[in-house]
Amino acid sequence: MRIYKVGGAVRDRLLGKPVTDIDWVVVGATTEEMLAKGFRPVGADFPVFLHPKSGEEYALARTERKSGRGYGGFTFHASPEVSLEEDLIRRDLTINAMAEDDQQNLTDPYHGQRDLEARLLRHVSPAFAEDPLRVLRVARFAARYAALGFTVAPETLELMRQLSESGELEALTPERSWKEISRALMEDQPQVFIEVLRACGALKVLMPEVDALFGVPQPPAHHPEIDTGAHTLSVLQQAALHNQPLTVRWACLLHDLGKGLTPEEEWPRHIAHEFKGLKLIKAVNERFKAPRDCQELAMLVGEYHTHGHRALELKPSTLLELLQSFDVYRRPQRFEEFIAACEMDARGREGLEQRSYPQADYLRGAATAARCVAVQPLLEQGFKGPELGEAIKRERLKALKAYKEAASV
Ligand code: CTP
Repeated sequence: MRIYKVGGAVRDRLLGKPVTDIDWVVVGATTEEMLAKGFRPVGADFPVFLHPKSGEEYALARTERKSGRGYGGFTFHASPEVSLEEDLIRRDLTINAMAEDDQQNLTDPYHGQRDLEARLLRHVSPAFAEDPLRVLRVARFAARYAALGFTVAPETLELMRQLSESGELEALTPERSWKEISRALMEDQPQVFIEVLRACGALKVLMPEVDALFGVPQPPAHHPEIDTGAHTLSVLQQAALHNQPLTVRWACLLHDLGKGLTPEEEWPRHIAHEFKGLKLIKAVNERFKAPRDCQELAMLVGEYHTHGHRALELKPSTLLELLQSFDVYRRPQRFEEFIAACEMDARGREGLEQRSYPQADYLRGAATAARCVAVQPLLEQGFKGPELGEAIKRERLKALKAYKEAASV
């Protein structure tokens, strides 16, 4: 039995990056031998085990053959005869197909080290096509290593294009896709993920609503970059630069989907795009079964981002409706995330990245003013039920009028 470190752990050590997860491959062993050594099997027909102490993953060297569509369509062949090279050739990228023994001796039959130096994300073999999720993985690695100068090799991009056109991406489960999407959005350059998906035609399949934004103009006075797709990428980039959480990044990606629906004769204006986009945002949310907090924020940002930008001009009654829509009294954090998404939207414009965004503090102040309305005195005055609700609203409106007046002094 020979044991090797494989995949990301080898790649990241060679890149000088911190290694978090270690995957191991075991050559020359049977399932029975692994069980006898105390390894715990991960799944019934999956030749992967967890180490009894470290909990790290140990996989028997295996070959994979695709026998049908989707993730279920795999047959595994794991046996003590499968060599390390045979195991490595079925992996996605050359930089992920290196192995290392306990003396740090490298086994690198597909020249992963050369591609690390050349900063290339290159597939190992045609077996790449056996798992369509790899299209998303490559785009994610491109986002992660963009700052190091990595790009996708042209022949790999071509293979990704063929996979995207083949209809295979439709067979991915929402859970697998979301895992890649959410990890990619949390990288330092999430916009590269979208760019690579677009370059290989996968964006059109996975998120046609986002793909449709490219080539759609906006008024240059507010959007010097003009193109709505370019703007969306910049907003995403700003969200990463400002270390925003996943909820905000997801909302940034989807906030302007309605602009893709504007008839050409109305360009570059996009009347009511906020409202028109809601059904598209809902569709994308549901397609990937995004977590509830991501779904909610994306819908709210989609509907109200223009309110955010116009905060200082809003009538107190509109301001109150906005705060009520966010249930800012019980969900203050969600309103903070809305403000953040609006600010990223304002900064994700060519030449305006450093602009100040006074709307943010103004909105925070409005939320505080409305929250400060005390309920107890109203209860003491005898209000209850729906009348109490109305009385609270009246008091909040009064507070917002006073706030607006004080702010304009
Ligand atoms: N792998 C693959 N195809 C996939 C998933 C994984 O070929 N669809 C292989 C790659 O060799 C990869 C290894 O399995 O390096 C481990 O996969 P995983 O832990 O998902 O990724 P890492 O490469 O470790 O990357 P990350 O740092 O993103 O976890």
